[in-house]
Amino acid sequence: MTLATKSPRLGVCYYPEHWPREWWVDDAARMSAMGIAQVRIGEFAWSRIEPERGRFEWEWLDEAVEVLHRAGLAIVMCTPTATPPKWLVDAMPDMIAIDAVGKPRRFGSRRHYCFSHAGYRRESQRITRAVAERYGRHPAVIAWQTDNEYGCHDTVLSWSPAALAAFRRWLAERYVDIDALNSAWGNVFWSMEYRSFAEIDLPNLTVTEANPAHVLDFRRFSSAKVKEFNREQCRILRESSPGRDLTHNFMGFVTDFDHHDLAQDLDLASWDSYPLGFLEQFWFSVEEKHRYARQGHPDVSAFHHDLYRGVGRGRWWVMEQQPGPVNWARHNPAPLPGMVRFWSLEAFAHGAEVVSYFRWQQAPFAQEQMHAGLLRPNRLDDVAAGEVRETAATLTHFAGASSIKADVALIFDYQAEWMTAIQPQGVGFSALRVCFEWYSALRQLGLDIDILPPSGDLSGYRIIVVPCLPALPDALIDKLRAVEASVIHGPRTGSKTRHFSIPENLPPGELQSVLPIKVVRVESLREGLVESGADFSVSRWFEHVESVLEPELELRDGRGVLFRHTRHRYLAGMVDPTTLQRIFRQMASEADVRVQTMPEGVRTRRFGNLRFVFNHLAETISIADLLPDDAALLLGTRELGPAGVAAFSDHGIRK
Ligand code: GAL
Repeated sequence: MTLATKSPRLGVCYYPEHWPREWWVDDAARMSAMGIAQVRIGEFAWSRIEPERGRFEWEWLDEAVEVLHRAGLAIVMCTPTATPPKWLVDAMPDMIAIDAVGKPRRFGSRRHYCFSHAGYRRESQRITRAVAERYGRHPAVIAWQTDNEYGCHDTVLSWSPAALAAFRRWLAERYVDIDALNSAWGNVFWSMEYRSFAEIDLPNLTVTEANPAHVLDFRRFSSAKVKEFNREQCRILRESSPGRDLTHNFMGFVTDFDHHDLAQDLDLASWDSYPLGFLEQFWFSVEEKHRYARQGHPDVSAFHHDLYRGVGRGRWWVMEQQPGPVNWARHNPAPLPGMVRFWSLEAFAHGAEVVSYFRWQQAPFAQEQMHAGLLRPNRLDDVAAGEVRETAATLTHFAGASSIKADVALIFDYQAEWMTAIQPQGVGFSALRVCFEWYSALRQLGLDIDILPPSGDLSGYRIIVVPCLPALPDALIDKLRAVEASVIHGPRTGSKTRHFSIPENLPPGELQSVLPIKVVRVESLREGLVESGADFSVSRWFEHVESVLEPELELRDGRGVLFRHTRHRYLAGMVDPTTLQRIFRQMASEADVRVQTMPEGVRTRRFGNLRFVFNHLAETISIADLLPDDAALLLGTRELGPAGVAAFSDHGIRK
């Protein structure tokens, strides 16, 4: 029996333990009246569920569950393991994670545990079983969230004794023979050879950088620990709560563990979308931060929606949607009026089953008192409440439709980001950032994109882009050889073996079997240092390529930048955005895919037979040129205002 319905719906994150019981019935009635269908509870409530070891106080949570159920609300129950209570930490002080400089991460906020600590792993299973047995078969409980935001506050890597012991075991299982490890890592360099696995330390506190192969294995190990932790909870939840969906709420631009891998144990992915905080915290220019300050960058939410659709193998939710100003970014502006509705519709247009707001009522106390909710601290509606009602009223447009396969597949791999973080070779080089920039360039051409792992099914795509994949798996090369799509590989793709060495036949390694090129030298370029072609430029990164191929693009001095052989291309540098678009436009024309250049700040997305247009600018813009002459708008107007969303029935977008 699957209890989850897949028609689009709204949710909210609720903390009954923060509020007097007398409010709960009223809260539930107001949620329901607002158009909210499901409520996430419990993820930080361990100290109230089990105030002392073995003494459980279920009564309050039983009542909260009944109150929500009686109001017709479905429940997403959480395991409370992101916030182990004080008595537990005191009883088991070494469960605390240790940071990279060797300091314990204290009690007093959240996520203060080490994924490798066997004792905490048992505790996580014990509390999961207790909550699952209590509520697992309750008719209101339709889904479970494991823990909360693995990796938040830099918590994947722990430099603890427990991690060290587990890392040594993991290495021994993997390499069996210490000489195999020495040779894979290249430990002859700087006399780093080990005589046994017991001699290996964690790769922190070294005098200068640690061996990148050592760091990469530590990252793989740490990711595997998160997966094991999550899997242990999932196993218990499946036993005690059959038929319910299991999910975890992933984050924006957090890559410290392999989400594709972990999600194998889940039924769907969910993620927490804070568009204004993300714009403020990441690499965007000051000019972009100003232009989109109250709307968010036009591609950030969409990038994650498309990423998590892939992580969830088609099924995904927004578990936390920003409702107003947040508290944690460097600056925390308020969204433009209408943005909460806009973000919600954007998520549904990318295929979300649920958009759930964080949080119901703003808490007047503790760390997040400056974080808006749907209600103000005095319980009156905040701005977002009205926008949630408006969103609820438009949900019928999405019913019955689903995401269709995009024309473009973009390959993103978490390990690629670890590799460029470990060895950036030029300040700020990030595989994730390259993926995002390519994604953005494709979206500016009006294209829909599926973001897939290297193991994804590539059949049926007409364009495949591999922006930056240093350790290119052989299986992916085989698949790329077999597909009929137009394919492009970006800088650093194929540049490393899986043990973090340069391939014997030079980069791009085995990719040379489809593209006869050799990268013989790479340069990173400081800001302002550019290489020029006749009508384009290369900045940040440039590769010197030797090839029998005539380059499709070359610098003024004749050095090649873009190479093509049959359906495959290789781009040997970071070209300016206009040139990147020009290359994609050319590929689209070869692949017979229609493109439509978007005005600045405007993006489009097809969902079923509907086509959406989103205006991310703070001013009104005419979208008449983007619509077929006879388009009847179901939402929005041809003059689309700030936070404007238009939608129309479109059967003809595909060429
Ligand atoms: C998320 C987290 C929530 C809350 C929220 C504030 O990262 O899951 O618990 O802290 O951010 O924006």
